[in-house]
Amino acid sequence: MENPVLKAIYERRSIREFTDEPVPRQYIIEILKAGSWAPSGLNNQPWRFAIVTDKGLIAQFEPLTKYKRIIQCAQCLLPVFISKKTMYHTVKDHQAIGACLQNMLLCAHALGLGAVWLGEILKSAEEIKRLLGLSDDLELMAVIALGWPARRNQKSKRYPIDELIVFDG
Ligand SMILES: Cc1cc2nc3c(=O)[nH]c(=O)nc-3n(C[C@H](O)[C@H](O)[C@H](O)COP(=O)(O)O)c2cc1C
Repeated sequence: MENPVLKAIYERRSIREFTDEPVPRQYIIEILKAGSWAPSGLNNQPWRFAIVTDKGLIAQFEPLTKYKRIIQCAQCLLPVFISKKTMYHTVKDHQAIGACLQNMLLCAHALGLGAVWLGEILKSAEEIKRLLGLSDDLELMAVIALGWPARRNQKSKRYPIDELIVFDG
């Protein structure tokens, strides 16, 4: 695929093993910026971001998910929140957060980094907010685990497109 956007969409994979190399600050900011350029209803931009790079703090996320092994090797965690006071429509605001998260994953991929969207950790949303000392306005939507990929060429599958088209004509 020649088009760089399509190439990134098709080649991005969830990366769950990272090297010990830290992620430069400017790359982290680029990922947040890409997230913030997602579309949102009324352009209300409901997303808010936390940056967790302190090793001791990252370790405190380990007991909060069954994906402890991903946290253990992540060089950075990016908890993504929705700001309740910016919201105007529950479904549309959550869709905007999904678009933001996908932009972040694609940006990480474009920078040669590896990332995975952690949803299971939402069961510990309140603990994470307490750990970071954040206000009640913020509700955790996902945590992106980030680092330099320890392995490349991860495989994934999708249903054939014919099976997904429910009306045509
Ligand atoms: C809402 C959501 C929640 C997810 N939660 C987790 C998770 O908790 N742990 C994990 O390892 N991967 C998680 N993933 C990643 C998916 O497993 C992954 O995107 C899917 O298997 C397709 O693989 P690919 O991203 O490599 O194409 C999540 C993805 C989404 C969109």
